[in-house]
Amino acid sequence: MINKLKLSNRLLKVSSYIPNSAYFADIGSDHAYLPCHVCLSDPTAKAIAGEVNKGPFESAKSTIDNYHLKERVEVRLGNGLEILKENEVNHIVIAGMGGSLIKAILEEGKSKLLNVERIIAQPNVDARNIRRWFLENGYVLTNEAIVEENEHIYEILVADKDSSKQPYSDEYMEKELLFGPLLMKSKSAAFHKKWTLEHKKLASVIRQMKSASVPDSTKITLYENELAWMEEVLHNEKQDLE
Ligand SMILES: C[S@@+](CC[C@H](N)C(=O)[O-])C[C@H]1O[C@@H](n2cnc3c(N)ncnc32)[C@H](O)[C@@H]1O
Repeated sequence: MINKLKLSNRLLKVSSYIPNSAYFADIGSDHAYLPCHVCLSDPTAKAIAGEVNKGPFESAKSTIDNYHLKERVEVRLGNGLEILKENEVNHIVIAGMGGSLIKAILEEGKSKLLNVERIIAQPNVDARNIRRWFLENGYVLTNEAIVEENEHIYEILVADKDSSKQPYSDEYMEKELLFGPLLMKSKSAAFHKKWTLEHKKLASVIRQMKSASVPDSTKITLYENELAWMEEVLHNEKQDLE
């Protein structure tokens, strides 16, 4: 008997943004839990699991075999979006990596994105990088979520091509790129916790930078500006609760 495939809350949330009957690619799929879960829940869905490393590629193959999904989940070995043919999938998931790696995968694979309506990214750090890439590449940020799991806080970004309007304001764009324009409005406990921790880390980095023999004043000013933004965002939240 096969055990039921149980996804983490983080991947469950990611999967909730995959539309019904999707043909999607999960890049950096590891055990292919996400595409298998989606295809088990939706008999009309199809997926490609991409993996650059042989170990995870083999793990993905055995999950797909275990759940008898070979007809609907294909696993391919290769770097980023190079495993895809042009116009092959309509949706792409890239989860569980750093924001700069996700951005590099998207940038290097641009030619494969012509028919991709939705990109769902879950960066472990540096979500700002991906928001900026979406903005500069015709994808509109339509949804954001923040999930806490096992002492980690994860941001999930959903971007759609041909959606109407970017959710950024001209005046506060840099601030919104950092915090997430939609997350800033949602004000969840996880959001508050994340930025309280980030504030503490950044304050300590600034203290260390200031004590260097030749302090990098440009960078210090930049970080101090971001620290002030964090204080504003946390303060506004507190006011909203009062
Ligand atoms: C930490 S795991 C995340 C697995 C799964 N996506 C998740 O969110 O739980 C990252 C996976 O991405 C794969 N990976 C890293 N860089 C990649 C790339 N350029 N192309 C495809 N896969 C990559 C790694 O081999 C690893 O299995």
